[in-house]
Amino acid sequence: MASPRILITGASGYVGGTVLSHFQNSSNAEIKNASLSVLVRKQEQADKYASQGVTPFLLAGLEDVEAVRQLASQFDIIVHTADSTDPAAAEALVYGLRDGAQKSDGSTKKHFIHLSGVSSLGDSPISRSPAISYEFSDKRDDLYSYMKWLENMKPYSQRTTDLKVVDAGEKADVKTYVVKAPLIYGRGTGLFNNKSVHIPMLIRGAIAAGRPEYIGQGTGIWDDVHVIDVAAFFEHSWKELAEGLAEAGLKKNILKSTETQSIGLAEAAGKYTGGSTHLAEIALASNSVTKADLALEMGWKSQKTEADFRQSLLDDFDLVASSS
Ligand SMILES: NC(=O)c1ccc[n+]([C@@H]2O[C@H](COP(=O)([O-])OP(=O)(O)OC[C@H]3O[C@@H](n4cnc5c(N)ncnc54)[C@H](OP(=O)(O)O)[C@@H]3O)[C@@H](O)[C@H]2O)c1
Repeated sequence: MASPRILITGASGYVGGTVLSHFQNSSNAEIKNASLSVLVRKQEQADKYASQGVTPFLLAGLEDVEAVRQLASQFDIIVHTADSTDPAAAEALVYGLRDGAQKSDGSTKKHFIHLSGVSSLGDSPISRSPAISYEFSDKRDDLYSYMKWLENMKPYSQRTTDLKVVDAGEKADVKTYVVKAPLIYGRGTGLFNNKSVHIPMLIRGAIAAGRPEYIGQGTGIWDDVHVIDVAAFFEHSWKELAEGLAEAGLKKNILKSTETQSIGLAEAAGKYTGGSTHLAEIALASNSVTKADLALEMGWKSQKTEADFRQSLLDDFDLVASSS
């Protein structure tokens, strides 16, 4: 593809900002040749990107699906990191790419890369046992059918969006990639938000309760990935994560011991997920273990280690302490 036109949504965020800076510093000839644009909601962000040679498009937000679709029609590749839970916005972006293809000679295949998460594959080990101890592979397993099945039992906005992206891509003849990231850690490299949501939220909870918390037995297992490491997956149980936080909090003199505390779903929902026990269970207690076989085949390599993960817990304590 000659000089692809790339749009990134969510570039002022943690992951999107890291993706943009990765592109800006890339030695890949196609990316170096590409024109980079961002969809933003704030004038000061637009000004900052423009000063770096990135073209900003100022919109009210993803909710304005007409404007989003119109904007998308001007690009060859869209990296959508702004919101994994808005099916209408994702659809508008995919159909916008199709509109653009229809206006051109159609020789350029359009690509839509959608950042999503693994909570939409998670089980409900507390409210609906037995737990699912299974490592999902994006190559071996039919994740689409599995997610359809889960979705029929209980709709979940992130999963609804994943499925919509795949369906819209097929209808619009746009190549879609749903990147189901696990728990992301480490410092981002973008211009604005450089911290993740997940671990800092648990650190704030640990400081408030005096010790890190986990739900129920805390035995549900998730993978971790460093924000600048596209395919480095490491596992933790929720209890092990709480133990890692306790150690880091003690080292930083913010917590007084290495004790951790099991709490119930209702208490966790009140403290961490705005009252939703469903979200607390799948995002903070479930099993969701995945292997990115397709990503590895595409040449993505792990660079970060368990030591980086431990270090990021210490860094996150500093970050949360300095921002509270
Ligand atoms: N962090 C993780 O551990 C993780 C793991 C898996 C999946 N994900 C998913 O990845 C996505 C991004 O996560 P993140 O941690 O990078 O979030 P973040 O730091 O909060 O960034 C969100 C970005 O999206 C933009 N945005 C949000 N709502 C928007 C809207 N309605 N219209 C236009 N722009 C909007 C924000 O712009 P403003 O600057 O204007 O607010 C910001 O640039 C989320 O969907 C999340 O579910 C995250």
